[in-house]
Amino acid sequence: MRKIGVLTSGGDAPGMNAAIRSVVRKATREGVEVLGILRGYEGLINGETMPLNSRSVSNIIGRGGTILKTARSKEFETRAGQEKAVKTIKENGIDGLVVIGGNGSFQGANILDKEWGIRNVGVPGTIDNDLGYTDYTVGCSTSVDTVLDAIDKIRDTVSSMERIYVIEVMGRQEPYIAVMSGLAGGAEEVLFPGMEIDYAKLTKEITEARARGKRSWIIVVSEGAGSAIVISEEIGRLTGLDVRPIVLGHIQRGGSPDASDRVLATCMGGYAVAALLKGHSGVTVSIQRRELVLVPYEKACFERDKDRKLHAELYRIIKELS
Ligand code: F6P
Repeated sequence: MRKIGVLTSGGDAPGMNAAIRSVVRKATREGVEVLGILRGYEGLINGETMPLNSRSVSNIIGRGGTILKTARSKEFETRAGQEKAVKTIKENGIDGLVVIGGNGSFQGANILDKEWGIRNVGVPGTIDNDLGYTDYTVGCSTSVDTVLDAIDKIRDTVSSMERIYVIEVMGRQEPYIAVMSGLAGGAEEVLFPGMEIDYAKLTKEITEARARGKRSWIIVVSEGAGSAIVISEEIGRLTGLDVRPIVLGHIQRGGSPDASDRVLATCMGGYAVAALLKGHSGVTVSIQRRELVLVPYEKACFERDKDRKLHAELYRIIKELS
């Protein structure tokens, strides 16, 4: 391999820049040229590229967002879009790609590998930590800390005003951010995607707790479980209490990556380049029990059972201690 491309795709995540830096520096050290592709698959389709060298990635290890910019490309889901992307790859003499992104990005990368023969290796960059066979994804640690910081602040007003707050966090399919920040923030309840919200049980718990003298509650809700606004209205109606919704939104994706995300991104970025150079493709770098391994995209995207058990156990602990 003489030239590789690198792109970031889907939602940005803290640590993506650290991964880009590592990809560029590792490749350069191996004598491989690097082309940055802007705006993920959109940039591949439109031929938006920029050459990267060791100096272009100076001082980005601690910066949030992604210097390559990112997008969710509808066009890339079509054969015509993929054809244009492959044309850009061929015209630029790109021998392999490193794709930094999440679930949707890897499904695209898998198509590039399987249907178009474009060699590529993934680096899991998403705050959601919703990929199977990796203990962590780049960005999830920082994001949980951002949410926790918000919960801690909200807790001050919760206990001062004795209200109920429903805090909506990101995670359309997986409760990772909700369950981790909920546990760390001492939340009284966490609502998961796919969970039937049992309002009668919630109302009973809140009412009984108030009778025991516990007057404030924090409910963390994954966006996939429902809207904080709707849920707080319903709880307010049923309990007659002052229930406030808070939607944290995109602040969860911003900010300087914490040490864990920088280290993970740096290790994974270099590992992805090494894997490409060894001839691997159609796989994502993953971390399992502190060891970096390669996992086929299909497994990473569609098999996530181990996390369900972990989340259920963490939920049990939250309820036991609340
Ligand atoms: O995939 C990361 C993520 O932040 C999800 O948690 C969230 O559901 C989604 O992206 C929001 O995407 P967008 O910024 O495109 O609305």
